[in-house]
Amino acid sequence: MAVRRIGVLTSGGDAPGMNAAIRSVVRSAAHANIEVMGIFRGYAGLINEELKVLDHHSVSNIIGRGGTILKTARSPEFLTEEGQRRAVEIVRKYQMDGLVVIGGNGTYGGGIILSKKWGIPCIGIPGTIDNDINGTDSTIGSDTAVNTALEAIDKIRDTVTSMERIFVVEVMGRDSGYIALQVALGGGAEDVLVPERKFDIVRMCHDIVEGNIRGKVSWIVVVAEGVGSAESVAKQITDLTSLETRVAVLGHVQRGGVPTAKDRNLASLLGIEAVRLLSEGQSGKAVGVISDKINVVDLEFAVTRKESQIDTIYEALKKLT
Ligand code: F6P
Repeated sequence: MAVRRIGVLTSGGDAPGMNAAIRSVVRSAAHANIEVMGIFRGYAGLINEELKVLDHHSVSNIIGRGGTILKTARSPEFLTEEGQRRAVEIVRKYQMDGLVVIGGNGTYGGGIILSKKWGIPCIGIPGTIDNDINGTDSTIGSDTAVNTALEAIDKIRDTVTSMERIFVVEVMGRDSGYIALQVALGGGAEDVLVPERKFDIVRMCHDIVEGNIRGKVSWIVVVAEGVGSAESVAKQITDLTSLETRVAVLGHVQRGGVPTAKDRNLASLLGIEAVRLLSEGQSGKAVGVISDKINVVDLEFAVTRKESQIDTIYEALKKLT
């Protein structure tokens, strides 16, 4: 059966580059004579029938804009049987032959439900700053977020060095230490705490005190938010070392801003692939890039735990501090 119309939505936490992905879906679909319905506010908007046709021109000049023109939301209602029934009703009402869902683990969970339980063809595009989706080296937004956080850490380094202090910097990542590890290495941090690994704070404090005796007085400790607050880590350091600490929480600035070339280009390539898969009648798949080649996996695999370079980065930090 020829695919004539598809839907596209962004869901969960926004990520820089989502707009480039929407543009790619709309434009590549237009090339294949497929109409695209933009669904606003993710699965919540699908349930509430918030849709609009997106033509070629409607996605002009968005490739370099952060956020998502489709808005995004987390939808507890979609997790109910009633919510799903309603979402499927809307897909059928608008005669959408499939959906492209852009987001992270939660978004992919929705795609699994729609495709496996309700028979709605769905293809996932990885859009999350957390880079915690399997089957792809990188997710859209993660490169931009890392560079945003790194710029902040470079600035913090200036004051840390000048005032010879211990600074604890909290970056995003409830379940993922990706940003923390990348900026710890790239920013020359002395230590990093991530949710995927147990951490010995007593050992770290011991190193700080030893360093102090040797004359190393400036420390940056990067903490992924999933580990606990920077505030509590800083307090533990002060309690154990009697040294003064300062805290910076980078927060949602990491989710905004102009997407990097890497994120825009990844988004552009993956949007094309997602439309191609739907037009071939495929469903329940997630698109990604591994070693510069397009990679397609089942959505179920994409949501399994991914650990990128954690031990390698810990080892590197030890050798570089
Ligand atoms: O999933 C992306 C993410 O930014 C996580 O790193 C973070 O823990 C979470 O979203 C924050 O969610 P919210 O914007 O709803 O506070």
